[in-house]
Amino acid sequence: METDDVAGDLSEVLYTEQQVHARIAELCREIERDYAGRDLLLVGVLKGAVMVMADLARELRRHVEMDWMATSSYGTGTESSGVVRIVKDLDTDISGRHVLIVEDIVDSGLTLSWLRANLLSRGPASLEICALLRKPEAAKVEIDARYVGFEIPNAFVVGYGLDYAERYRNLRAIGVLAPHVYS
Ligand code: IMP
Repeated sequence: METDDVAGDLSEVLYTEQQVHARIAELCREIERDYAGRDLLLVGVLKGAVMVMADLARELRRHVEMDWMATSSYGTGTESSGVVRIVKDLDTDISGRHVLIVEDIVDSGLTLSWLRANLLSRGPASLEICALLRKPEAAKVEIDARYVGFEIPNAFVVGYGLDYAERYRNLRAIGVLAPHVYS
């Protein structure tokens, strides 16, 4: 029988919920400063960014709008497929808007560079990226994330919205998935 020892499937906790919240608060102070006097539309990328979006939006002491996109990325494995397609598009016309993409993690950067180009073609007034986590691989591509929560090692991480085969998104901490789970 499967156990429900979710936290026991981590080999290491990288960041506790408190550490994540503290870092998100710092990012929010920067965002408030940078977007003072300008409308702000947060665009979350489903499903991984749900937790980051929820905490980031509530921590911001200003008006924001939220919209969502879904793109296909990893399937159920731990390697990027490199294939990106829109599963759910925005409800909002972003032309002339100040748009901040909210992402859980930049790994190869394939998803974000594609998304960035796609959204830029719609004529926003500005387009920036906020990613909670960034892996070393991201340095190889031209992904200029203006706000990054944590630089993490090249391991497969779960929790706080990040999944393995759709599980672990509901973990409050961010941790490295123990190899026994997927080997
Ligand atoms: P990229 O296109 O390689 O940058 O990866 C984009 C997507 O892959 C992210 O938005 C995540 O959904 C997923 N991903 C990348 N690395 C991890 C990880 O370590 N754990 C869980 N999902 C990940």
